[in-house]
Amino acid sequence: MNILIIGAGGREYSIGLALKKDDNVEKLYFAPGNGASDILGENINISDFNELADFVEANNIELTIVGPEAPLVDGIVDIFRSRGLNIFGSSAKASQLEGSKIFMKNFLNRHNIPTAKYIETDSLQVAYDFINTLSTPIVVKADGLCGGKGVIIAQSHDEAKKASGEMLSGNSFGDAGTSIVVEEFLDGYELSVFAICDGKDFVVLPAAQDHKKLLNNDEGPNTGGMGAYAPTPLVNDVLYAKIDERVIKPTLKGMEDEGMPFTGVLFIGVMVVNNEPIILEYNVRFGDPECEELMPLLKSPASELFYKASIGDLKNTKIEFYDKYAVGVVMASKDYPYKSSAPAEIIIDNIVHNDIKANSHISFAGVSRGEDDKLYATGGRVLVCVGIGNSIKEAQQRAYALCGQVHFIGKHCRTDIAYQALEIEG
Ligand code: AMP
Ligand code: GLY
Repeated sequence: MNILIIGAGGREYSIGLALKKDDNVEKLYFAPGNGASDILGENINISDFNELADFVEANNIELTIVGPEAPLVDGIVDIFRSRGLNIFGSSAKASQLEGSKIFMKNFLNRHNIPTAKYIETDSLQVAYDFINTLSTPIVVKADGLCGGKGVIIAQSHDEAKKASGEMLSGNSFGDAGTSIVVEEFLDGYELSVFAICDGKDFVVLPAAQDHKKLLNNDEGPNTGGMGAYAPTPLVNDVLYAKIDERVIKPTLKGMEDEGMPFTGVLFIGVMVVNNEPIILEYNVRFGDPECEELMPLLKSPASELFYKASIGDLKNTKIEFYDKYAVGVVMASKDYPYKSSAPAEIIIDNIVHNDIKANSHISFAGVSRGEDDKLYATGGRVLVCVGIGNSIKEAQQRAYALCGQVHFIGKHCRTDIAYQALEIEG
């Protein structure tokens, strides 16, 4: 089949790589794709949803897979479905699980799904009164999409009040912050759990851990994610079962009962506190860079997983994963995450070591192809070096061996991705 992937990042590239290995897939298209995705398929420069649907009809595309949240929140799935086209992703209504933190928190509350104690409000006085009842740190969140920046972990009551004031006045995040959530701080360890959902049934992927901070030891500012690995040994069968029963099942039933069945990727940000899963947030798409590690672990054909989910037929589909580990290390450009950097040519050494060649690969993200046909680093997170292995240590060594073969001016990466897992693995 022919497949269209919407998006431009490493996440979409890794979905493309998985589909490329799949015998059922004939031609891949990316809208818009990046400077390297033209190796996997054809980049098309269309963003209007109806024009994309026209393109899909004209090119016999049987499935469209949506990577980022923005087109989902903006209703691409609704338009495609109204035209009878298969698309993998959540409807605009269902995407409120990510698009509005207030919707998400109230939904969790309505369906008794465990989450941090909170209030939602557009009144500064109500925020102040609630802040006074909490001990520090205190978490203040803007309601709408803020590109991952709308969460403040305040270390004092005054800081929490100041953050609430700045959000509510529209100074910090404009309209996205004119309603806020204030919540208690959860102290535990964080996981990324992904369920592929078809409205009723679901497949859970191996749990991942993301490293959001810029620097080793989880220090420095937050980023979109500097690396991730899966599966994490921080999850055992008991915890998976709790996540299934207490989180995913009531979420799918709740969404169906409320008239907005959830199809697509349910990305569950979990904080594990005393072995109990507590929900930090939902996203309606794959994590980036988590997707780059999960796609290579998929043993079943990727097209089958996404296609069956898009037509509501996961129930009769057995999806298998390799019994292996994947570690992904993000290589970022010089000034990431502070500002954009000048384009830098990317040079990748010929990989001579067979072991590295066979068990590692690059997922390209913030790259452009120059007029000289060379690849340039033009985004913040430029590419992800992914290593696969029989242990986390082996996967990590392979990922870092590959990082050593990639060169561009200003490149930097964390050197400790998967460190918590290694402490457990020993
Ligand atoms: P969110 O966008 O809600 O996932 O928040 C972004 C990040 O802030 C999360 O990945 C957590 O690291 C942190 N965070 C959010 N809410 C809380 C909370 N209630 N307690 C502790 N950390 C939190
Ligand atoms: N890596 C976290 C995210 O994609 O939101």
